[in-house]
Amino acid sequence: MTPFNPPIHAKNPHLPFGDKQDSPFYGQDIISVNQFDRQQLAYIFDVAHEMYEMVARVGSFDLLKGKILANLFYEPSTRTSSSFTSAMERLGGSVIPINNVSYSSVTKGESLPDTVRTLEAYADVIVLRHPEVGSSALAAKYAKKPIINAGDGIGEHPTQALLDLFTIQEELGRVDGLTVTMMGDLKYGRTVHSLARLLSLYDIRLNYVAPDILSMPAEIQEEIGAKGIPQAAFTDLMEVFPDTDVLYVTRVQKERFEDPTRHENLKGIYVVTAETMSHAKDEMIVMHPLPRVWEIDMAVDEDPRAAYFRQMEYGQYIRMALLAMVLGKA
Ligand code: ASP
Ligand code: CP
Repeated sequence: MTPFNPPIHAKNPHLPFGDKQDSPFYGQDIISVNQFDRQQLAYIFDVAHEMYEMVARVGSFDLLKGKILANLFYEPSTRTSSSFTSAMERLGGSVIPINNVSYSSVTKGESLPDTVRTLEAYADVIVLRHPEVGSSALAAKYAKKPIINAGDGIGEHPTQALLDLFTIQEELGRVDGLTVTMMGDLKYGRTVHSLARLLSLYDIRLNYVAPDILSMPAEIQEEIGAKGIPQAAFTDLMEVFPDTDVLYVTRVQKERFEDPTRHENLKGIYVVTAETMSHAKDEMIVMHPLPRVWEIDMAVDEDPRAAYFRQMEYGQYIRMALLAMVLGKA
């Protein structure tokens, strides 16, 4: 077989007809929220908004026809995996789903670098969820095609933070000037690690409500503090809830605990109920990356301020925008 031309092996591969080399993020990896600035975020949200309108109007369209996404998940997922699939399919592309690595050659001992180098031979972009911090950065080091981090252990979940920020912008019309209260497992929750960093680009106030053993890691607080963002930690939600614009609730990440009995002891603390909501502002939102276990009572779902199911839907438009951008079509 004739060897490939070198450009196909470059991280910015040779552009097929219609690709835009000047498209922001063309050929790039999405590993951490620290790679974004406010201008780029505004651009992503504009594209996501267009995706929303196009889906509402026509359902799907062929922007990424002929492109293939490999969905490589070493950890369970419902939303991230299926919304990347729906995003790719709504844009006319297709997906190689590897949602259960135990049925792949990973079980035979194949390394992550070899697995991603295999998948990029067949796909144009790889979405990766893996239990180890830094796994996406490692995969990106070896892969020539874009890697999108869909959660690296307790590290980051950047596409979730993008959809979280987009939710705040769409629901409340602004980000600057808001008070955001994060509650639950702030130690192991990768979504709050990414979101707190992303929010630090804005003029906001951050409250952390958690038991001491699940508090926001000191290094993240230092990183955010260095940007001049006011942060405060509490153990009682009621100290800050009446002034909160966004309550971001998280699940206790039981799979990260070495001693499962410690997780059992935390069950039932920091539960949001209809009674809790009676202390909130009229114009505020409750968010949750989901899955929810017991931390928000189902009675809250009927409250118009409960934004978590809408938040989940915004994820599809953000992921459509990201795929179009890294593949040079936005
Ligand atoms: N689904 C989110 C994550 O994968 C949050 C969670 O699992 O609690 O990080
Ligand atoms: N929010 C989120 O990442 O959900 P999944 O774990 O279901 O993908």
